[in-house]
Amino acid sequence: MKFEIENKIASPEIQGEILALEEERVLRELEEITSQTNHLLGEGKTAEVWPLKGSEMLCMKVVDSDRLENMYENGSLPPFNSPEIEFDFLERVKEVTQAVHIPVPHLVLNIHTDEDRHVRIIVMEKLKAISLKDVHEGAPLPKNFNMTTFFARLRASLEQLHEAGIHHRDIAESNIMVMEETGDPCLIDFGDSASVMEGESPYTIRDDFGRVFRTYPNDKRSLGEVEKRLTAKLGTSLTKSK
Ligand SMILES: Nc1ncnc2c1ncn2[C@@H]1O[C@H](COP(=O)(O)OP(=O)(O)OP(=O)(O)O)[C@@H](O)[C@H]1O
Ligand SMILES: [Mg+2]
Repeated sequence: MKFEIENKIASPEIQGEILALEEERVLRELEEITSQTNHLLGEGKTAEVWPLKGSEMLCMKVVDSDRLENMYENGSLPPFNSPEIEFDFLERVKEVTQAVHIPVPHLVLNIHTDEDRHVRIIVMEKLKAISLKDVHEGAPLPKNFNMTTFFARLRASLEQLHEAGIHHRDIAESNIMVMEETGDPCLIDFGDSASVMEGESPYTIRDDFGRVFRTYPNDKRSLGEVEKRLTAKLGTSLTKSK
């Protein structure tokens, strides 16, 4: 399969030669992963996240545009979600909040293949972290994890983001990670996020006739539910940390 890059956006951290090198690496890696499926870092409803071989620091979130288009068409995804938008949010969110870790974005590649598939990729920092979804599925929590501080920081972060008009809109176990070394929270997956002006509703999207087109879950309420489910899972003792 032959891949061709259509466009790219580089973060300031990656420039010139390094950028060219990363592009080359991503393409090589992409050719490889199309023929194997055994070392995924994670998977969501729109994307697969792969480590970038030979790189300690980077991973790539691969979004198959056909899958995305299908989801737009059957209404399970509003047509706002795109890797470019997610990339922009990653950059902005990092400036707004230091309370939680946010993956550093590096570049977006928009790739056409000779089989007419359209793949879009975000290259970003590879997190040494596990998701709360992993924890619910039995993964042990890092030893520095502290339930109270963890959720306090997430709440503070959401507060800062909301003040800046940014709403995540997909707060769930699969999008909250725990950093392995520090036990600190990390918020990922800004693919459903929105930037709203004061007075606008961030969670209800209306069509041109004022009819409700889609509602999103409220960030703070969702975080409360995530916390409740984790508390129920762990009990109050937290003795299950590794
Ligand atoms: N930067 C990263 N480093 C390491 N693992 C990651 C990274 N980003 C995502 N992952 C893993 O991949 C999984 C899927 O990623 P992500 O949530 O971004 O995909 P998605 O398809 O947008 O998900 P959703 O179904 O929530 O829309 C995450 O739950 C996480 O386990
Ligand atoms: Mg996700």
